[in-house]
Amino acid sequence: MAITAIKGMNDIVPGARDLFLDSAIWDRVLAPATSVLASYGYRQVLLPIVENTSLFARSIGSETDIVSKEMYSFTDRGGETLTLRPEGTAGAVRSYIEHNFGKTSPLQRWWYFGPMFRAERPQKGRYRQFYQIGAELFAAGAPTADAEMIIMLARLCEALGLDQVGIRVNSLGDNESRIAYRETLTKYLSTHQNELCEACQRRSNSNPLRVLDCKRTSCKAIAENAPDIMQSFSKTAQQHFEQVLDLLANNRIEYQRDPRLVRGLDYYTGTIFEFTSKALGAQDALLGGGRYDRLVNELGGPDIPAIGFAAGIERLTLAVAEKAAKDRIQTLDGPHLYIASMPGAEKLALSLGDAVRSQRRHLVEVDVSGKGLKAQLKRADRAGARFALVLGEDELVSGKAKLKDLRSDLHPTEGLATMVELNGKALVAALDAVTLVASGAKS
Ligand code: HAM
Repeated sequence: MAITAIKGMNDIVPGARDLFLDSAIWDRVLAPATSVLASYGYRQVLLPIVENTSLFARSIGSETDIVSKEMYSFTDRGGETLTLRPEGTAGAVRSYIEHNFGKTSPLQRWWYFGPMFRAERPQKGRYRQFYQIGAELFAAGAPTADAEMIIMLARLCEALGLDQVGIRVNSLGDNESRIAYRETLTKYLSTHQNELCEACQRRSNSNPLRVLDCKRTSCKAIAENAPDIMQSFSKTAQQHFEQVLDLLANNRIEYQRDPRLVRGLDYYTGTIFEFTSKALGAQDALLGGGRYDRLVNELGGPDIPAIGFAAGIERLTLAVAEKAAKDRIQTLDGPHLYIASMPGAEKLALSLGDAVRSQRRHLVEVDVSGKGLKAQLKRADRAGARFALVLGEDELVSGKAKLKDLRSDLHPTEGLATMVELNGKALVAALDAVTLVASGAKS
């Protein structure tokens, strides 16, 4: 029997049956997303996928769903207890402390992309191996940092062409506020003890904020009527949050303040946020994040504030794919030019391909299958190529060939499948002209 992939773990391949698992869509999400992050000064970090289990227990919190039931943990050959990372923040903070950035160069803007692992029940938008793109900003405690991150994420969604994105914002206040709220909330929950699920009955004393994040219907109803955390805010916490909201309004970011938003990880302090998309269904969170001003210190580093976010790539590609289907956008992810050749013309095919690519504007695939012309053109079509060039004896003699349009429905202009001279410059010029016509015709 053939071996298949593990449940909840996907292959991202070209031409996948589900568009959101098509590697071409992933490119279309990752390239603009990383370019938006880079434009705000973020730089890439590559961190290990496996960390010590205690890192996640200490940062995410042992009473969260992630740590209590979703981690892939194992004992390695040396007897150490290790875990496949369920998220990226804990590892980023570990690395920040380990490399002593707090002392040498505290302000760091990092972004990362990679697989995360959570043993959740798989469904649309929820997988056991999923990918996140995320960022962490260290040593920036001002309200402007919170606002800048939310604005950047709104721009990131715009860059992906996503509309109908909802932005929910809340604040968990500072330490003083949280201590006060904890008391208020515990008191409130104690009047509903019997209506809470078993886990929440336990959590209502040890970690009452977690009750507000419980997915059970009975607990949700109780959370709905819980006192608003803002009523417990210290003056400092209130001023910080008001400034963040002010900055968002000033930059015309449409947000909704959600007093029930607490997020599923324990390290948060202050501003937290989630972006949702109607295109996604039940698992509607495109991305989430917030401030975690105590974590660096709690994990053994200096007292340094931080804020960050992470977005699920599958959720971004799902939303992008849904939007493309709705707008009937045709994807053109194949090569711009496919060069087929008959025996004797392979040499020219290779050198022409190289010449066109050297201008770095066009994707060129040269057929190297050694098969007949029919098979080569079939492959050109399957690769999603826009134009094909067929090189045979006649073309070798005349130094010209027909640039064959494989997708003539994309532009109405006649006569573009013209004869072109067989040199890099002429071919690039011909492809440039067509690309212009094609994008002009779309608008
Ligand atoms: P999170 O809310 O747990 O936050 O995850 C962020 C995003 O990852 C979610 O909004 C969702 O898009 C995606 N995601 C989470 N679980 C799954 C899953 N099982 N399948 C598919 N996608 C999923 C964090 O991970 C924090 N580290 C974010 C952060 C960074 N906060 C501060 N810095």
